[in-house]
Amino acid sequence: MQKESNNNYYIPAEDSIFFADYLKDKKGRSALDIGTGSGIIANVLSKNFSFVVATDVNILALVKAHETIDNCICCNAADALHASFDLIVCNLPYLPSDELLDPAVDGLSDGTKIPGMIIKSASSRIEKNGKMIFLTSSLAKYETLVQLSESLGFYVTIAAKKKLFYEELIIIECTKNKP
Ligand SMILES: C[S@@+](CC[C@H](N)C(=O)[O-])C[C@H]1O[C@@H](n2cnc3c(N)ncnc32)[C@H](O)[C@@H]1O
Repeated sequence: MQKESNNNYYIPAEDSIFFADYLKDKKGRSALDIGTGSGIIANVLSKNFSFVVATDVNILALVKAHETIDNCICCNAADALHASFDLIVCNLPYLPSDELLDPAVDGLSDGTKIPGMIIKSASSRIEKNGKMIFLTSSLAKYETLVQLSESLGFYVTIAAKKKLFYEELIIIECTKNKP
């Protein structure tokens, strides 16, 4: 994840590609992509899910995503939604930062404050047998997100990792039922 993102929306980077590849075989009825940016992840989900919703706080990102995704909603995390989903995913803004200057990448304290808020919001929109999957990084104190998800009643596994030059990408899966 690069500190400087495009002014309009997050241009898909190594984290996006790694996450998209991990998610490409997931199947179900309904999926929610939080922080959709360009819509790259929502597009991958659209292949195997019949109903896909994409949210973002950045309206310019949603203008881009809406070129290919019908259901785009400008809101914080899943806060504007009352539906429940089989799968909720988010390539989190995980960089530790003192201020929220760039919402595409800044996660505030330990790179976990914004991600924690997103996870809490997502956790109330999961179907009974559903799953949340997040991408974070060794640059963030991701153990905090594992603990938070467990405290919300999820079974948590580190599902995949990818070493890059300056960080390790980490994919976390959270299920309501014991895997
Ligand atoms: C790292 S980018 C990922 C973009 C895209 N999903 C990808 O993989 O290329 C994080 C995205 O989350 C969005 N975002 C940040 N905080 C958010 C929040 N509280 N609610 C919804 N979206 C948020 C940003 O605007 C940005 O588009």
